[in-house]
Amino acid sequence: MNLTSNPVKQIVGDVICPGDKSISQRILIIGSLLNCDIKITGFLNAQDPLSTLAALNQIGAVINNDGDLVEIKKRLGPFNSSESSIDLGNSGTGIRLLTGFISGLNLKATLIGDESLSQRPMSRVVDPLVKMGKKILTNDGKTPIKIIGGSINDNFKFLMPVASAQVKSSLILASLSSGNSIQIREPKVTRDHTEKMIQYLNGEIDVKTSSEGKIITLHKSKLSKISSYEVVGDFSSAAFIIVATLISKDSRILIKNVGLNETRIGLIEVLSKMNADIKIINKRVICNEICGDLLVKSSNLVGIEVSDHIVPNIIDEIPILSIAACFAKGKTIIKNASELKVKESDRLNATSIGLTAMKINHELLEDGLIIEGTEEDIVVQEEIDSYGDHRIAMSFLVAGIRSKYGINVKNCDNINTSFPDFCNTMNSLNMRIHEKN
Ligand code: S3P
Repeated sequence: MNLTSNPVKQIVGDVICPGDKSISQRILIIGSLLNCDIKITGFLNAQDPLSTLAALNQIGAVINNDGDLVEIKKRLGPFNSSESSIDLGNSGTGIRLLTGFISGLNLKATLIGDESLSQRPMSRVVDPLVKMGKKILTNDGKTPIKIIGGSINDNFKFLMPVASAQVKSSLILASLSSGNSIQIREPKVTRDHTEKMIQYLNGEIDVKTSSEGKIITLHKSKLSKISSYEVVGDFSSAAFIIVATLISKDSRILIKNVGLNETRIGLIEVLSKMNADIKIINKRVICNEICGDLLVKSSNLVGIEVSDHIVPNIIDEIPILSIAACFAKGKTIIKNASELKVKESDRLNATSIGLTAMKINHELLEDGLIIEGTEEDIVVQEEIDSYGDHRIAMSFLVAGIRSKYGINVKNCDNINTSFPDFCNTMNSLNMRIHEKN
């Protein structure tokens, strides 16, 4: 699907933030382990969580989804190995978390994904799981991941070599589902939804925070059963609405029910330093996750140098931050972000190619981007390729607001992996995005 985003004068309105993708996937996995009936509200009905849901049902979970409500049911029997391959589609979170979870359950399974997922590194989870005692084969560190035997050792200690919540969560889930303990040292702090969910379910998990990062210890834990769970909104989806508002003239948007976990909202800090007008109101806690409403107004942004330490916190928001930087006065410098090269696309390269089409002066670094903003609206003749990456597609569609004649973005189908209602939501706020004939 190719989309066109036309210029608009102003965006206004109220919107409810779609459910969090990371939390939706985690409650399916951890919830099925509890083996009781759980009603999930606020679930993100998008392709990635749905791939995880189908994968869990393939190994014996019973999860029903009628569109509005997702219900985990008490299983008919134990989890089972799967003869046929388990396909996680485009979902890096799904495949990595389930590799850990299934390893801990001592099942046999082969996990695969789509073309993009097949090119992403899996040894970051497989190598530590093998050290923990599992027998797992890969195709030179890529999919298929074949879990063929072994069992998880107790009291494994691991120092995270990359800043990745998927790796951390995969190992925690392997220990949790096998009934063992683990200690993980995390020098660069990443999203902590797995830890927060285990705490919420009265699992014994301690987290010590120091200037050298975090030490996370999961003790042998029996989790409490629950009958309902509410997923808060996804800050990473809200980020597109935030930046759309900031770069539009005379605009004001209220985004309701946004997840505000402190390991996720670094973009608010970065944009505030860029002079953005963002206010948090109505802060509350839902299922051990902070959440609130965001009031955002048009702002005259200025470029900044983004601090290295905040990069893991804003890792999914860097493409849309780059669009904010295009319309900020001066230079924005983003470094230490080479993890972006192994996301759904090489996001540094994909962003740079799009910025070139937008005639934005910028430099592509080995680990980041330096972007020089403009006050002018942009003229884009070429079609911009999203490389099948949802966040690249949505970022350049947002940039269409400040174009003179619109922006065409190619390969937008994967918006369905994280924010299926993106076009309707943005158009309800006055944007003009439509399918290109
Ligand atoms: C996620 C972790 C991040 C993030 C991804 C979701 C998660 O990936 O980019 O969109 O749910 O744990 P990494 O762990 O690879 O940084």
